[in-house]
Amino acid sequence: MLTAEQLVRIEQSPYKADFPLLAKNPEIIFLDSAATSQRPEAVLAAERTFYETMNANPLRGLYRLSVEATASIEEARKHIAAFIGAVDAQGKPQGSEIVFTRNASESLNLAARTLPQVVDLGPGDDVVISIMEHHSNIIPWQQVCAATGANLVYLRLNDDYQITPEEIEAKIGPAAKIVSVTHVSNVLGVENDIAAIAARAHEMGALMVVDGAQSVPHLAVDVRELGCDLLAFSAHKMGGPMGIGVLWGKAELLDAMPPFLTGGEMIDSVTETGAVWAPVPQKFEAGTQDAAGSYAFDAALTYLESLGMPALEERERLLATYLTDELQALGFVKIVGPVDGSRHVGAVSFTVDGIHPHDVASILDMSNVCIRAGHHCAQPLLAYLGESSTCRASVAFYNDKSDIDALVEGLKTVWQVFNGN
Ligand code: ALA
Repeated sequence: MLTAEQLVRIEQSPYKADFPLLAKNPEIIFLDSAATSQRPEAVLAAERTFYETMNANPLRGLYRLSVEATASIEEARKHIAAFIGAVDAQGKPQGSEIVFTRNASESLNLAARTLPQVVDLGPGDDVVISIMEHHSNIIPWQQVCAATGANLVYLRLNDDYQITPEEIEAKIGPAAKIVSVTHVSNVLGVENDIAAIAARAHEMGALMVVDGAQSVPHLAVDVRELGCDLLAFSAHKMGGPMGIGVLWGKAELLDAMPPFLTGGEMIDSVTETGAVWAPVPQKFEAGTQDAAGSYAFDAALTYLESLGMPALEERERLLATYLTDELQALGFVKIVGPVDGSRHVGAVSFTVDGIHPHDVASILDMSNVCIRAGHHCAQPLLAYLGESSTCRASVAFYNDKSDIDALVEGLKTVWQVFNGN
């Protein structure tokens, strides 16, 4: 339950004015930021600035425009590295540890396609993931296990939606070669203790991959504190453009990984019979890169830093607490996940008694309330929880109390449509 002072803090959003879609369409109640965030004016302007002032193919041209486009990519890499704590002992950002991809899914596919070679994965080895993974962190490993004969092992949740220390110890044993777990569940909104999982993985000699798609946008993530080897995330869930994502990796691991996609500008030299790879990160970036995207992503980080990630996290936890409190006050809604709102990072899943989530979302849309309904690309988790579909409302810092109040009013209407009272 929020205090009166906390309620005042979420009463109005000082941030909506920064987001043209929200500012120009105040009737839209956007509660689907776990799917994609809205984009601030600074990011839209940056994308335009790139094309207006430095548009040329990066890495290939020897003329000023191309050199500037290349430099903008390298600046973005350094900024992203600093944002996630990928810095050396002197605090210098390690831009070469930032590989650009299309999105977190592609980053995870890159990891899954290349790590088996690094760890010589084969029959009798374990790849350990959790039951709360997004399909993007399940299917690539299913494919890997089918191809190599390795076992796919699932960390399961207890009744309080936690992966316990006992579960970590039981499932991550000497056979584990790769562990790949989400930092924050896109369905439940809960945060996993990645540092503990990574410590166990390393104790057993396994590599630790983290899906940060739902955490990097909301928490002050520091890869050194997480203790992971690879971290995947997307720009579009944190104010940046769609179509650009990141795989961060420790330099020595990226060096050891073979390329994923091959083609232009990922080589040092090519002969009729073979090729020598370019150093990282270019080794993983075949073809023309989304330089406008990385430039705009850079602007998104500048915007988030100007507000301060700790302040944004605190505001989002207040919003999530208000959301879970209000949902529980409705007698006909069941929260799927912790009822304690402060445990939610952005996302809160729920069901409405006797009404299919697709019907709930469609009726809410009539009041311009945007939520996601369905399996959220996490069917094994839903099956484990005994659900086939849920509604999911997800908050970002630009939301305010009125958005959640509108959702609650919309849910009352949904209930009336089906039940008449
Ligand atoms: N992965 C995104 C979500 O959870 C699309 O909605």
